[in-house]
Formats: sequence, C-alpha cells, structure tokens
Amino acid sequence: MSATPPVPRPLTVPEFRAAKGREKLAVVTAYDYTSARLADEAGVDALLVGDSLGMVVQGQANSLVTLGQIAYHTRCVVRGVRRGLVVADLPFLSYQVSASQAVRSAGKLIKTAGAHAVKLEGGQRMADAIRAVVNAGIPVMGHVGLTPQSVHLLGGFKVQRDLPQLLADAKAVEEAGAFALVVESVPVEAGAKITKAVGIPTIGIGAGPACDGQVLVYHDMLGLFADFRPKFVKCYAELGSQVRTAMQSYCREVRDGTFPGAEHGFR
Ligand code: KIV
Repeated sequence: MSATPPVPRPLTVPEFRAAKGREKLAVVTAYDYTSARLADEAGVDALLVGDSLGMVVQGQANSLVTLGQIAYHTRCVVRGVRRGLVVADLPFLSYQVSASQAVRSAGKLIKTAGAHAVKLEGGQRMADAIRAVVNAGIPVMGHVGLTPQSVHLLGGFKVQRDLPQLLADAKAVEEAGAFALVVESVPVEAGAKITKAVGIPTIGIGAGPACDGQVLVYHDMLGLFADFRPKFVKCYAELGSQVRTAMQSYCREVRDGTFPGAEHGFR
C-alpha cells in the first residue's frame, strides 16, 4: 500500500512569532499560483505578495502598485499555498492617509483576497496605523530600514545607518502590535542590534545574518531578473539563462520542423 504524504498544516501567525530564537524563518516573495506552489512545497514559512510586483512583474522603475493589483496577485498566491503564511503588502498611499484608511485597505486584502496578514512600511510614523489594523484583528508585519515607498524622501535606495532611529522605529512597530518586522538594507551590526532589541522576529533583507529570518525577492534569488541585482541577493539558480536557452531550442525546433514530433500528435 502506498502511503499518501500528509497534507501540511497551515502555519499560524502565533507560531511564526514564536519561532524567534528557536528556528530561522525563510520568507520569499510570490505573485502567482505556480511560483507560490513551488515555494510552499519547498517549505518556505511565509510568502510575501510584495509591491516589488511593480518592478519584477510589471517592469516599472518603482514599486508604486495599486491595492487592486496586490489583491489580484494575493488571490493567485493563496490558491497555490497549503502551509506558508501569505502576507500581502499594503501599497503606497493605501494606508498613509489615516488609520481608518489602513484598516479598510488591510481588510480588503484579508477579506476579499484571502491574505493571512498584511505588511506595511514605516516605524514611529506608522505606529497608529499598525495599532488600528491590529485592533481590527488583522496581523501586521512591519518594515523598517530602507522603505522603498519613501524612496524620494530617503534620497534613493540607500543603506540606512541611523541606529538610534532604526531602534526607535523597530520598537514602535513592536509596541503597536506587529507580529514580525522586515528590516531592509541596514549594516550587519544594526541588524543584530535591532534583532536583540525586539521580541518579535526580524526578517532581514540586506540586514545581515543575525536576523531571525531572511526574505528575498523570488525573481532575484532565481536569477530571473537581470535589470538590477542588489549586493544582498544570493542567486540560488540562474533560471533566466536556462529559460532563454530553452526558448532558443523551441524556436529552432519549430523552424526546422523537429517539433512537434510524432509523439505529440493525436491518432
Ligand atoms: O515588496 C517586497 O518585495 C518587499 C520585500 C523586499 C521585503 O517589501
């Protein structure tokens, strides 16, 4: 008798939070069913429907996407996931206007798109919005350090080095009720200090090895996005060149009549 593999149990927000100090958390971005399913089957702990969507999927120069677009891609991702936590990014100007706007936007991603939690950028400045969303019963992942939605205010995609401000931001996010915190583009020492200063898991991206977990953009870690490769990215595969080679073979075989072969036809 062949044993059926057990259906994985979904990871809960309290379990994710409780992993701090016990197990490192692996997080990756996802935007569609097929890639979400592959990442989930591989065992990632959370899938982030990030607003990096704007760059790696839509081909824009920035991550200024709409709430409707994040909702659409969240629905696609949710269908592919059985175990991982699906976290949907709140896009630019969907939560900065007021705390009630933040609750409404977060509610849409939970209620109509099926996300398990939302992520929003900002530390002290966003504490009221985080508190309001958490009070509405929606888990929030914070995001401090380099916050790409504020790229113009920050003067570019730069490493953030103001340690007192970084610590104040991280603590404000925790006090407001977030269950985890993305820390982006800070020196390795700052990543370690922030991780020690808060009781929620830090998920680093360019924040060093001391963080409680790491997050990478799907297209970056698989070598699919060549426009720009930040220093903190490790490529675990070069799928871009493999896809190109496969496509060249396909074009050649169509043109020389090798494809389709007899085995691809109906009798
Ligand atoms: O949008 C995104 O992909 C993100 C990660 C880089 C953390 O915010």
